[in-house]
Amino acid sequence: MNLTTRWILLAGLLCVSVSGFSQQAFNAYFTPAKKYLQLPVKNGAPKKNVEIWKDGVLVRFFDIELSEDRADWFAYLDISEWKGDSIELRVDKLALGSPTFHPVVQSDLDTNSGKLYSEALRGQFHFSPQRGWTNDPNGMCFYQGQYHLFFQHNPYGRGWGNMTWGHAVSKDMIHWKEIGDALHPDGYGPMFSGTAVVDSNNTSGFGKPGTPAMVMFFTGAKAWCQGLAWTTDGMYFQKMDHAAVPRVRTDNRDPKVFWYAPGNHWVMLFWVEQEGGQHSMQFLRSDNLKDWTKTSIVRGGVKDDRYLHECPDFFELPVDGNPANTRWVLSAANSVYAIGSFDGKTFRPDAERLVGQVGRGYYAAQTFSNEPTGRRIEIGWWQTATDKGDMAFNQSMTIPMELKLITTPEGIRMVRIPVKELETLRRRTIRSGAISLSEKSDDPLGETQAELLEFRMVATPGKSSAIHIDIRGLEVLYDAAAGELSCDGIKAKIPLQQGNLQLTVYADRTGLEIFANNGLYYMPVNKNISGTKSSISVTGGKCSFKQLDVFELKAAWE
Ligand code: FRU
Repeated sequence: MNLTTRWILLAGLLCVSVSGFSQQAFNAYFTPAKKYLQLPVKNGAPKKNVEIWKDGVLVRFFDIELSEDRADWFAYLDISEWKGDSIELRVDKLALGSPTFHPVVQSDLDTNSGKLYSEALRGQFHFSPQRGWTNDPNGMCFYQGQYHLFFQHNPYGRGWGNMTWGHAVSKDMIHWKEIGDALHPDGYGPMFSGTAVVDSNNTSGFGKPGTPAMVMFFTGAKAWCQGLAWTTDGMYFQKMDHAAVPRVRTDNRDPKVFWYAPGNHWVMLFWVEQEGGQHSMQFLRSDNLKDWTKTSIVRGGVKDDRYLHECPDFFELPVDGNPANTRWVLSAANSVYAIGSFDGKTFRPDAERLVGQVGRGYYAAQTFSNEPTGRRIEIGWWQTATDKGDMAFNQSMTIPMELKLITTPEGIRMVRIPVKELETLRRRTIRSGAISLSEKSDDPLGETQAELLEFRMVATPGKSSAIHIDIRGLEVLYDAAAGELSCDGIKAKIPLQQGNLQLTVYADRTGLEIFANNGLYYMPVNKNISGTKSSISVTGGKCSFKQLDVFELKAAWE
């Protein structure tokens, strides 16, 4: 083989011709001196695999729609933990002569941060990540004076992937500050959903004197094991070097962990797909959060019947506020739930397949552990239509809702009530108090102009009347004769209670969250209303309102 042939063969190994132009594996060494490595993203560009190596060890890996031209936005990879080290950056393929990493750009500042939170479709009082994709809320927990919200995060793209635990903190569950990703994919796989608890008695030994650890459980979605990580400052996270619970079956994930005080032990449950597509929740117990023993299984639906499919939540609540009369609630990702009793090992349902919500785009909700006021507060993934234009983020969370059990004529049911902290968002009272309308009345809200709204009413509609509430062009209609509430094609039978309909509605740019009959019905409506009308109106026939309160709200981003 002559020299030229050898050269051609070698070049052939290094270069692959993709759709007419040559691409080449790329690598560069650099020494982190700043906080971030800047990564240009073009939404929809072909994905490239990026790896970061340190001392021969692969420390980060992800795919990314790298821009080799004009970036839509920049992803920021935090490289501060490797300051002063020699780091290798590898990309599986870049166009020959691509300017993407010439030079490798580091930055201390998040250079496009000024654009964040004011985007046309950025929910203004719903949490969403600064950049990238989110789905499930994870590890919701109150720790060291703050609420912590972790979330399934793709830091490098607007679509699902590279599952990492993003991290935000808040004093009130309304104003969130994102503080950097907490758990990155590793040899066990991407970091799927899970839970966090505060180990107040230091049963795990991960705490320091006077400082209990926050202990987190996640699914390593390659080994399909339940992993453990902990922190003693809420900022720096360490992973246990082995799985807390090895794989049970291929499809098993989303651990929920809590302290069972009567038995003085921890309980874990997670979703397991049994043979034949049978959904189930596997229960386990532990004294130290590290060693787990299986205790029982609760079965749900089969295959497409997603009762008890993924993302379990499980907690005890008083009925009608009576602490001497409690029930346990078991729910899963689609929020269909069961109510029953629990002895630390086995859940025995009294009522199953209860409908958790009547809306659209609500999924994988979780509740906070260690909530300081003892409330059970839930946030769900709100599947918003935010995958648009050159925006840098996609998807969001719902508002926080307090869960309660109440007695109804049909039995015990769960209600969702927007947390009282949301009142701090009120900027202006547009109107409040009772009012009676006749056919000839002017719209009591006709002139109102506002973008973000809270709407509360108790209406007593006549037998045949309908109430039309127009919220910035999106109609919420209550047909009193049919006993039906509808919005954007979503319909739910909602009977009047003693002749009254109670409604609370929160309106943000990405849609409405509607609560009917004091939270017995929750109808989230994921429909962008940005850019449409900025008015709100109420019309109907003869109808009296015991309450018709409307507030303009402020944005929660600071
Ligand atoms: C639910 C879910 C979880 C999983 C996670 C991965 O939305 O499928 O079961 O842990 O998303 O992102």
